[in-house]
Amino acid sequence: MDRVEVPGPLVEVAEAAARVVVLSGAGMSAESGLSTFRDPNTGLWERFRAEELATPEAWEADPSLVWAWYLWRFERIHLVQPNAGHTAIGEWGRLGLADLTVVTQNVDDLHERGGAPVVHHLHGLIRDFRCSECGYPHADAVAVPSTPVERIPPPACVACFGLVRPGVVWFGEMLPDDPWARAVDACDRADLVLVVGTSGLVYPAAGLPAVARASGAFVAEINPLESGVSDMAHLCWRETAARALPALVAAIGPDTL
Ligand code: OAD
Repeated sequence: MDRVEVPGPLVEVAEAAARVVVLSGAGMSAESGLSTFRDPNTGLWERFRAEELATPEAWEADPSLVWAWYLWRFERIHLVQPNAGHTAIGEWGRLGLADLTVVTQNVDDLHERGGAPVVHHLHGLIRDFRCSECGYPHADAVAVPSTPVERIPPPACVACFGLVRPGVVWFGEMLPDDPWARAVDACDRADLVLVVGTSGLVYPAAGLPAVARASGAFVAEINPLESGVSDMAHLCWRETAARALPALVAAIGPDTL
């Protein structure tokens, strides 16, 4: 692999930062093999219609279609591994040089599996299956088919017989209060916010870099392409997550890294 040059100003800020937030989107997991949403040709929303799969109205109209699609995504997540970007964040946390908080829009658990110390999921976690009526958790009661199927009836809740749904936030739904409040607080207090692999198009998450910048944080973007938050960043590093983050952590960590 060719050598990754870490921008000097970013190393300086990262070395001095006492509080760091990594704000991640689907690009963070791309090198693990999970599709993003909006990348040309490969993005999920290039191949599937969000309004048929990721809204409360879609669930109301055709729960079996929605359930089968999320089970397919759940299985994909289960089959892949954290990439070098996820594990570098875990390593950064273990170094103890800064308080490190991950705020993610991703519904996979790759940050947790990569060892990140604190992770707030703004759009939920698929694996947190729950009853759509009473909210009863059903994390262990989900059978995944061995091949993708177009429609699968969702299981019934053991408590109230409502339909079990994935633990995600759909378009038109409110973000979960607690992760959102903690994300805003972390961005407010951060010295450095690294915005990694998001198109910065979906609000309110896309507003967090502005919150951080207004509170005095240095905002750096890691993304091979320009995004909706590039203008707001002090520094844009046109690299991928799995190449940039290990290089950054190696640059600020002890020589043994
Ligand atoms: P998008 O698919 O909108 O954006 C992915 C971003 O990752 C793009 O800016 C890519 O350039 C970048 N990218 C691709 N590969 C990368 C890599 N290897 N390293 C770093 N960056 C890379 O995904 P999100 O911004 O996460 O919401 O989308 C936001 C929300 O829209 C999602 O949480 C989801 C979606 O609809 C809901 O479903 C509610």
